[in-house]
Amino acid sequence: MDELGERIARLVRQVIEERLAVGGELASASTPGGRRRPLVAANWKMNGSRAMAEGYPSGLRPAPGVELVLCPPLVLLPPLAAALRAAPGLPEVGLGAQNLHFEPKGAFTGEHSPGMLREAGCRYVILGHSERRAMFGDDDALVARKVRAALAAGLRPILCVGERLEERESGATFRVLRAQLTAALAGLGPPAPAPGELVVAYEPVWAIGTGRTASAAQAEEALAFLRERLAELFSWAWARGARLLYGGSATPENAAALGAQPDVDGFLVGGASLEPAKLSAMALKLSEVRAR
Ligand code: PGA
Repeated sequence: MDELGERIARLVRQVIEERLAVGGELASASTPGGRRRPLVAANWKMNGSRAMAEGYPSGLRPAPGVELVLCPPLVLLPPLAAALRAAPGLPEVGLGAQNLHFEPKGAFTGEHSPGMLREAGCRYVILGHSERRAMFGDDDALVARKVRAALAAGLRPILCVGERLEERESGATFRVLRAQLTAALAGLGPPAPAPGELVVAYEPVWAIGTGRTASAAQAEEALAFLRERLAELFSWAWARGARLLYGGSATPENAAALGAQPDVDGFLVGGASLEPAKLSAMALKLSEVRAR
């Protein structure tokens, strides 16, 4: 689909969803009181097994008011979705993918289109993750194409941005964040996607999988900066409604301190998400600090 086609598709979908509030999904980014609904997204990366997917939901605990999204490897989506459907007493848990191809179909061996992900039950897709940027050639231009394709297909991107250690140490953090965010969202709008359709995750590369978490102050500073840039790109009202996550060695131990920051709306969780009890504990901490 060309750029104009993508914009038209997005506009049409936005209007339809606003009219119908499809399945309540449109409202899910905010609470009835108009506050941003916290979101905890699990990035299993290339981990897990069929057995893990089948057993995972029984280890999840509800966390009032927090939206949970699970992004397993694609082949594990069907058993995970089936196990979630069969699990009693769980609030709705969303599903997501870890990547997509921007074309709707064709000779792209090993890839999956946005439409296929939707059909498989995905509502979200992680894009621009630093592992994909570093190992699979996902540069800013490619991330931007993927973001546009995701939105056009009705998938919500969880767009990851973050600086490497040497960039932080040389004082380039905010330059990097601004460049990655601006490039990834280039060509979006008008009309802008609805704020609930796009999630941005601040993931400092030096904190991912290292056990070295950003301090609450560092996470807040970066996310407040990103929210301001989103306000410049869209509007303040838009930026106030969009959910921004922290990712990078987030655990049940640091979830309360991080989650208490005003611009931290939740977490993108790697390692800790492999254990449903830990993911639930993080969501519960978030729920508690938000209730205060
Ligand atoms: P981590 O990964 O929680 O294992 O640091 C986070 C991520 O890569 O999204």
